[in-house]
Amino acid sequence: MQGRVQLRMLLAGWLVFFFSCAAIGAAAQGVLAATPKPATPTSALTPPMGWNSWNFFAGKVTDKDIRDTADLLVSTGMRDAGYVYVNIDDTWEGQRDASGKIQSNAKFPDMKALADYVHSKGLKLGIYSSPGPTTCARFEGSLGHEDQDAATYAEWGIDYLKYDLCSYGGVMKTQAPDDPAAQNRLMHEAYEKMHQAIMKTGRPMVFSLCQYGWDSVWEWAPQVGGNLWRTTGDISPNFDRMSLIGRSQAGLAKFAGPGHWNDPDMLEVGNGRLTIDENRAHMTLWAILAAPLIAGNNLTEMKPEIAAILMNKEVIAIDQDTLGRQGDRVFADGPLEIWAKPLKSGAGHKSVAVAIFNFGESPSEMRNDTLHLKEMGFAGSVFARDVWAAKDLGKITDQYKVSIPRHAVVLLTLHQ
Ligand code: GLA
Repeated sequence: MQGRVQLRMLLAGWLVFFFSCAAIGAAAQGVLAATPKPATPTSALTPPMGWNSWNFFAGKVTDKDIRDTADLLVSTGMRDAGYVYVNIDDTWEGQRDASGKIQSNAKFPDMKALADYVHSKGLKLGIYSSPGPTTCARFEGSLGHEDQDAATYAEWGIDYLKYDLCSYGGVMKTQAPDDPAAQNRLMHEAYEKMHQAIMKTGRPMVFSLCQYGWDSVWEWAPQVGGNLWRTTGDISPNFDRMSLIGRSQAGLAKFAGPGHWNDPDMLEVGNGRLTIDENRAHMTLWAILAAPLIAGNNLTEMKPEIAAILMNKEVIAIDQDTLGRQGDRVFADGPLEIWAKPLKSGAGHKSVAVAIFNFGESPSEMRNDTLHLKEMGFAGSVFARDVWAAKDLGKITDQYKVSIPRHAVVLLTLHQ
């Protein structure tokens, strides 16, 4: 009974998502009424794509790793598949000079030369800092030097900034003890301060907020210039953590759109011991979520099967679809979940990407479950393509059945 009630609630939610987006938009604006509207987006019109050093190299990353990665993004075809940002995460920072200007440390001898090299490959360079006195790895943060740091980044030729709360959490607690609302205001102001600092440089930089989703960041991040914002704590290269993070994005679709995206953290595809099915499920879920696709694997030893997952053109096209709608969960029956993402459609046509996941530990069949086509706005049969199998299925109905191995997914695109 309870299951049926939950199911009904899920379906109702999906109907609202599909048919009342204007109303949802208005409601979201109501939530944000107190803050000014974000300007018309000019950057990150589709979810940013690139590579970041943290998930594989962590604190060991060097200038050479970044140059090698830039070379490999080109030679493997990753750049041409859309992965254009090369983002240096934490541990590049050195001391400040007498004037307070940030220096890179010995691992990064010349940041401007590195930016020139990355740009010469047709790529863009990203960097990392914190609004606090120190970063999460305890390197120099930007507190009190926001304008100076943004100007330095612009001078180096930086195109993207990940701004990670880290020690600023402590500053918030010290400045507004026992007052969570005031602490949150301080946090918003800290992000707005760096947003303004970037604007003053006149150089476009994608602004990536990282504060682990605190204070429902999706409700206010666009107002402080966020092009993307982390919605959760850190991902790690195992299926449980990845799927927990991915599934927790249910309900956040209404906050994403061109220029501003929910970020369930960077990809772990190719890292740890993720199996091929698990890597595919990860890539699929991120594509359905219109999540930023920031790879984090070691490109110097990328296996062909991992390259095939990261560079699957049809999956990337689902993520990058210019309608810019994040998908959501349509149906759940224990470990079996159906997620769908509306795609840009031609006149008189309707297109949706649908992923049927088995998050469970044993193979699963759809048995009595249907595809829930009606809830996606389809009537009758639809033309389907199995994306990972690269196979047109012809016309299918709501009764289409699949068996799915543990931790695997079937990804379909449907057209009517
Ligand atoms: C935090 C972030 C990670 C990474 C590290 C670097 O944990 O969430 O993505 O940037 O800091 O120290």
